[in-house]
Amino acid sequence: MKCLQINGGKKLEGSIRVHGAKNGVLPLLSACVLVDGITVLHNCPRLSDVEVTVDILRYLGAKVTRNDDTLIVDASNIHRNNILEEYMKELRSSIIFLGALASRTGEACLYLPGGCEIGLRPIDLHLKGLKILGYRVYADGHNVCAVKNNVKGAEIVLPFPSVGATENIILASVLASGVTTIVNAAREPEIADLVLFLNKAGAKISGISTPTIIIEGVKSLHSTEHTVIPDRILATTLMSACAITGGNVELTDVCISHVMPTLPAFEEMGCRIKAEENTISIKAPPRLKRVKKIETMAYPGFPTDCQAPVMSALSVAKGTSIVKETIFENRYKHIEQLNLFGTDICVNDRIAVVNGVKNIHSADVRCTDLRGGAAVVIAGLKAEGTSTVRDIYHIDRGYESIENQLSMLGADVKRMYDEKEQQTKKSKQ
Ligand code: EPZ
Repeated sequence: MKCLQINGGKKLEGSIRVHGAKNGVLPLLSACVLVDGITVLHNCPRLSDVEVTVDILRYLGAKVTRNDDTLIVDASNIHRNNILEEYMKELRSSIIFLGALASRTGEACLYLPGGCEIGLRPIDLHLKGLKILGYRVYADGHNVCAVKNNVKGAEIVLPFPSVGATENIILASVLASGVTTIVNAAREPEIADLVLFLNKAGAKISGISTPTIIIEGVKSLHSTEHTVIPDRILATTLMSACAITGGNVELTDVCISHVMPTLPAFEEMGCRIKAEENTISIKAPPRLKRVKKIETMAYPGFPTDCQAPVMSALSVAKGTSIVKETIFENRYKHIEQLNLFGTDICVNDRIAVVNGVKNIHSADVRCTDLRGGAAVVIAGLKAEGTSTVRDIYHIDRGYESIENQLSMLGADVKRMYDEKEQQTKKSKQ
């Protein structure tokens, strides 16, 4: 097991390119199952979630090769229609394969994904959407299966603009006869990019980035090439790291409109933001100001995935900030770890009260989840002294070599062998 050692107190300065979006490449790789041919995907980051998804594609029978940040997927010979428990346990969002695999092979059986650190993560909206399309969907305590018998286009109204359910329904209906309308569809940029890719491959989908997506079924999808959009959550994470250190950073290859929902918060913190073409520059003040209120919402609201990284920056702002997490029911686990640095954050149900402190000290902390892990790393960049961040496998799911990215901006961060973890393991043997 590895950990990160961070010597805090260094201002982040310099320029860095934002890599491809984790939450963009995963549905795109799932969509490859529908293409009876070759898909070339550029700007695919090296993340453990991406590697697991590639393993799943290979298990299903696809040939996948990586050439730098390009993945080449040949899905001409998909010969399995199940996904093993080990894969689903490692990557619960692989449920996104259900619609595509059932559509391609006629039947798909996936291990039932459980919840995760941030919530129960139910999939009822996914299954309801497939049932309305005509798939026979059944689940026992172990597996969830979908059988394509009399599938045709339908109108599906989502009670909540679920990202995953929107993606699964699109993938399950793109090759179905008839027209499918998704009402109250999620509008995240990763969905727009998925639709763009599918249309390039021959699909007929309209309503990109609107709450109503219309999918006119087509017979097949052909080989195509596509570039994954930049990771807007990584961009906000790097901006939070710059902000907490009073730094001055330029982010390149970023899509400004995708990051727009978080810019007002950084401006309220007193950061100077310059956004032009595909570059965002952020110059932070010596001390951040509080943000009166941040409420997470579905896109184009403030993204739930940015809540923990931004909260970390706010923990040393002047004044008290209020954060309300409305998307996931258990997405404050990072607060206990942040308070080990000497921050002063308390929680009451969905509301977190962040009383900004002037300085924080080093701490020995662990990552509670992907974005919570980013939050404690950000705090470590500010803390006086040397901090240790453990369980960094959470971070590696969504950030490519976070220590290299931060070191490129002047941070003193090293990936080390976790001796304490090793000793604990030995003592248990
Ligand atoms: C996607 O998760 C992202 N993951 C999440 O990013 C992101 O936080 C989330 O969208 C919201 O933007 C990927 O894209 C791989 P949802 P997803 O369906 O699809 C409830 C990260 O850190 N819900 O929009 O699971 C659910 O419980 C990850 O990169 C149902 O009730 O999100 C939650 O409260 C974390 N029934 C809310 O909707 C369902 O069938 C949002 O879920 C589905 C969801």
